Amino acid sequence: MAIADLNGDGAAAVAKEIGGSFMRVDVRHEADIVNFIAATERDHGAIDLFCSNAGIGVGRGLDTPDEVWQTIWEVNLMAHVYAARHLVPRMIEGGGGYLLNTASAAGLLSQIGSATYAVTKHAAVSLAEWIAIMHGHQGIKVSVLCPQAVRTDMIAGSEGDVASVDGIMEPEQVADAVIKGLESEKFLILPHPEVAEYLMRKATDRDRWIAGMNRLRQRY
Ligand SMILES: NC(=O)c1ccc[n+]([C@@H]2O[C@H](COP(=O)([O-])OP(=O)(O)OC[C@H]3O[C@@H](n4cnc5c(N)ncnc54)[C@H](O)[C@@H]3O)[C@@H](O)[C@H]2O)c1
Repeated sequence: MAIADLNGDGAAAVAKEIGGSFMRVDVRHEADIVNFIAATERDHGAIDLFCSNAGIGVGRGLDTPDEVWQTIWEVNLMAHVYAARHLVPRMIEGGGGYLLNTASAAGLLSQIGSATYAVTKHAAVSLAEWIAIMHGHQGIKVSVLCPQAVRTDMIAGSEGDVASVDGIMEPEQVADAVIKGLESEKFLILPHPEVAEYLMRKATDRDRWIAGMNRLRQRY
């Protein structure tokens, strides 16, 4: 197992805990991802499962500066593009492989208060779908993880936020849902079951769904 994170100490601590290797990687830089893939193949052999999990929640409304849009775009979407660009051909060549991309329920529904997060996470879901459609028959499996609120550093201090309206899940519960999702090779991994219901309502009557979301927005 190989761990990468911008926070090298954090990656080292996780690697120590699970007995893996680690590397400090900035997923906004394609060269970092290429180096990480090469080092992992050298140390562990071909990659059969790649989890593209880094994500940030910067930016809010329409006045969010371009630089902030650019940063969140690079982390929440382009990192997945860079990983897939280099891994998919290798995996096809090697007979198949699995990409697990972390998006968010915000990538299926929306994110009240943050256009940057909602839009970039939708893009991440769309990319994952596209890869599955284009390469499924070549042995490429894809899952996209779309939780609502999870108790991590990302939501620290904003536990009362609208994103937590259905409660905050523990990371261990999300990990269990991921294992189940990977075992059954489900494209959409939804640790919060409510998300499937909301998604169906959105698909069935978009106007009603938007009006409901607007009412929710006014409450927060
Ligand atoms: N916590 C939630 O409520 C929640 C809900 C839905 C989806 N998510 C998604 O789950 C994923 C994991 O987030 P988390 O909740 O563990 O948050 P977190 O902030 O605890 O962890 C995010 C990790 O990404 C790393 N990272 C950030 N920018 C990076 C970069 N440029 N290069 C490499 N690593 C980078 C950080 O160092 C950190 O370790 C993210 O994609 C996030 O959007 C989180």
